[in-house]
Amino acid sequence: MLLSKFRTLNPLSPILPMTAVILDGKALAEKIRAEIADEAAAFIAASAVVPCLAAVLVGENPASQTYVRNKQKACEKAGMASVLKALKTETTTAELLALVERLNGDPKVHGILVQLPLPKQINEYQVLEAIDPLKDVDALHPENVGRIVQGRPRFLPCTPQGIQQLLIRNNIQIAGANVVVLGRSEIVGKPMAIMLMQRGPGGDATVTVCHSRTKNLPEICRTADILIVAIGKAKFLTADMVKPGATVIDVGINRTDAGLVGDVDFQAVKDVAAHITPVPGGIGPLTIAMLLKNTLQAAKLQAQSQGKKSGDQQSAVKTQPQASARKHIPYT
Ligand code: GUN
Repeated sequence: MLLSKFRTLNPLSPILPMTAVILDGKALAEKIRAEIADEAAAFIAASAVVPCLAAVLVGENPASQTYVRNKQKACEKAGMASVLKALKTETTTAELLALVERLNGDPKVHGILVQLPLPKQINEYQVLEAIDPLKDVDALHPENVGRIVQGRPRFLPCTPQGIQQLLIRNNIQIAGANVVVLGRSEIVGKPMAIMLMQRGPGGDATVTVCHSRTKNLPEICRTADILIVAIGKAKFLTADMVKPGATVIDVGINRTDAGLVGDVDFQAVKDVAAHITPVPGGIGPLTIAMLLKNTLQAAKLQAQSQGKKSGDQQSAVKTQPQASARKHIPYT
């Protein structure tokens, strides 16, 4: 690892190709999933509650079908349950809201994930706002978004949480770093920027968010110690936009004739960056691992609130302190 970093930073070594360290998201996700499986087993033994994720899929989008299938498989591998609610493409907002209400009221369901994007006739904000905030494992309900902004999260959104874990666990300095986030989506760009600028471990960065109307984009990108690219355009980030020695995180998954490619021109950028994530095998697997973590957290929160409601403290399951009682990120 040290050698390849040296190569990246050392222009005096022209014979050896300069190559960034590959941040192996797949391997880290496997490790985190094993940690969560152990934690889930302990929770199930203590509570007799099996954490359960309900995945809601509307329509026939093949990519969404694959993502949802992978999420369900991961739940089962971690000893958790999952149910799939598949609805037809023509589903109305009212029909989807009725399903969300049923899942909110089902005590066997702890996490609800409505796979996005939804067909265009459906009011996405209305659906996300209908999910019980305690079951909102995507952290897209306005209450949970507000808590993230205030630095007292209940859940952290899965992709930004996976990226934060990848940086922390690879000892990449976040505090004081100049971070540039490319993309301002509700699900990645916005929460990522907020999380990295919060006080405390995993935060304290100086964050710039760029988007389609940003002027001097390459110039701003070259200021970044950490570049997080979530713009949805194949090979958008080119080598000339990267400062030598930067860390480049590729969130993109673009289906092209040449197969799956990220938002980063990997082959060129790997010769400039010090660290880079591959596609596939980078951020995707970490997103799923964090969904498992949030589902377990949701089951614990609900067991805790059930214990409180019944006044039976003996049966209340011991859980991690509520996020609101913690000062910093809930998972390192
Ligand atoms: N579509 C693409 N990524 C995601 C995700 O993380 N959650 C949901 N609900 N939909 C998605």
